[in-house]
Amino acid sequence: MTLSGTITALWIVCLGVSLVQNVHSSWWYLGLAGSAYQTTMGSPALTYRSKCSQIDVLAPHQRELCGKSKNVLDVVSRGASMGIEECQWQFRGRRWNCTTFNTTDVFGHVLNLKTREKAYIYAISSAGVMHAITKGCAKGELNICDCDNRIRNTDTGGDFIWGGCSHNIRFGDRFTGQFVDLNENRLQPDGLMNLWNNKAGRKSIKSNTKLVCKCHGVSGSCSSKICWRTMTSFREIGNVLKDRFDGASKVRYNTRKQRLSPVDKHQKKPNKNDLVYLEESPDFCETNLALGSLGTRGRQCNKTSYGMDGCSLMCCGRGYHTLVRDVEEDCNCKFFWCCRVECDKCTRRIEEHFCN
Ligand SMILES: *[C@@H]1O[C@H](CO)[C@@H](O)[C@H](O)[C@H]1NC(C)=O
Ligand SMILES: *[C@@H]1O[C@H](CO)[C@@H](O)[C@H](O)[C@H]1NC(C)=O
Ligand SMILES: *[C@@H]1O[C@H](CO)[C@@H](O)[C@H](O)[C@H]1NC(C)=O
Repeated sequence: MTLSGTITALWIVCLGVSLVQNVHSSWWYLGLAGSAYQTTMGSPALTYRSKCSQIDVLAPHQRELCGKSKNVLDVVSRGASMGIEECQWQFRGRRWNCTTFNTTDVFGHVLNLKTREKAYIYAISSAGVMHAITKGCAKGELNICDCDNRIRNTDTGGDFIWGGCSHNIRFGDRFTGQFVDLNENRLQPDGLMNLWNNKAGRKSIKSNTKLVCKCHGVSGSCSSKICWRTMTSFREIGNVLKDRFDGASKVRYNTRKQRLSPVDKHQKKPNKNDLVYLEESPDFCETNLALGSLGTRGRQCNKTSYGMDGCSLMCCGRGYHTLVRDVEEDCNCKFFWCCRVECDKCTRRIEEHFCN
């Protein structure tokens, strides 16, 4: 091949790579703090529709959904940032700590592999949007949905009466499904994986609702009980999905049936609550930017923990160093009537450990 031929070939490869990475350009970007998409909160109809139609991290069908009601953009953005923040909280003590980058794919090259980390990202983001949309319905922020009134037709066996505002989980599920799933290609292994995990994220909300009740009756008697169904807190959802991450099922693409199957016949089939992945994760010990691994040098670790946050696992056996510093804090506080508090300043020495 001539030199110019080689250069052309390289260009084609580069183009291919940048095309692949464009696929990752994602609505997740709406959730990044400081992303340039300003709010449409309170805008008149014309403004939010035209705004939605200009947001280039949204796919065409998402722009359309965004234009269906005032505040969809704000609510979806809130859901996206809830997903990002929860991911970072859940993984704060792990080698991969859900780092985000100020790029339109948000989570960077960790998305290039079809790993359990990617599975968690899809599940928690999908759950975040569903949680935010469902709350938005209940708060009357969106004019395409309401509280769940159909639930009132459900038999309660005489234990209570339906009242209040039950979260419209069915709507949140359906709307979020349309918003997140239509990006994925069912004919591709990773499209199937993403769809599965999107759904598992939403399922974690559906399977963890609770009944909130209020008693009415003379002086503390509970002669009539009024109840409504609500979602559990998003922290709880993050915990549930983190457990699913730890127990995620490895699957393979069954070309003949065009679906995902367990890697071997004896393995239990994953159910709809489980997260699934196609490729094993790197160990995230060393920096390997192509795999989305920043390495753990300089990460703080816990000297007394045997878990992932402990210095031995976090630092991958490279050892750690300790920094000692003094922190000043209030102590011996006294309360003077009324209303004054006086404290002394004490210094306390703390030790912090960092991976080599
Ligand atoms: C992220 O990048 C965009 C465009 O490159 C820029 O306008 C914005 O200020 C950046 N945000 C942060 C938080 O760095
Ligand atoms: C996450 O990991 C990166 C790279 O190892 C580190 O720079 C960052 O401070 C970590 N974030 C938190 C919140 O620990
Ligand atoms: C370190 O780990 C121990 C044992 O798991 C735990 O009790 C302690 O709170 C942790 N310390 C910090 C600073 O997280």
